[in-house]
Amino acid sequence: MADRVGIYPGSFDPPTYGHLDLIGRAYKLFDTLIVAVAYNPDKEGLFTVDERIEMLRYCTKDYANIEITSFQGLTAEFARQRDATTLVRGLRVVSDFEYEITMAIANQKLNPNIDTVCLMPSEKFLLLSSRIVREIAIFGGNLTEFVPPEIQRRIKEKLGH
Ligand code: PNS
Repeated sequence: MADRVGIYPGSFDPPTYGHLDLIGRAYKLFDTLIVAVAYNPDKEGLFTVDERIEMLRYCTKDYANIEITSFQGLTAEFARQRDATTLVRGLRVVSDFEYEITMAIANQKLNPNIDTVCLMPSEKFLLLSSRIVREIAIFGGNLTEFVPPEIQRRIKEKLGH
């Protein structure tokens, strides 16, 4: 049987404990899990795509079957290039659902071989997002509960705190 390849696409700006929780669940479902940082031409972001890749690699160094990379353009097209048939996304609260189903259906139309699997994070991370982390970081709040120490260090370095 062909290797089962899953893709977890996202912005990861920065990676949070919520993303790492999802990765810790998703890697078990595939022979290879590709965690892919999407270039977003409309959003500059706090970290560059290369910095996000470095952070994700650091945080996932103990997993053997995880590849961290980036892609430009459509997720559906990237999935086709990598022979992946499953996208993984996190689903936290009801407000995520509309966004996720819209993307899942669009991706299905763009690439009919693709299914999206939504995984629920641990309850501890239900209200955690990169946007909240960035906002707390900008005002110098404590990020201990939200991101690993190395990511905290990089955020402080980036913001000059
Ligand atoms: O972490 P995010 O910001 O919720 O991730 C969103 C992401 C990157 C998965 C989504 O914006 C995406 O797939 N971008 C690539 C371009 C694309 O395929 N857009 C159409 C999806 S409907």
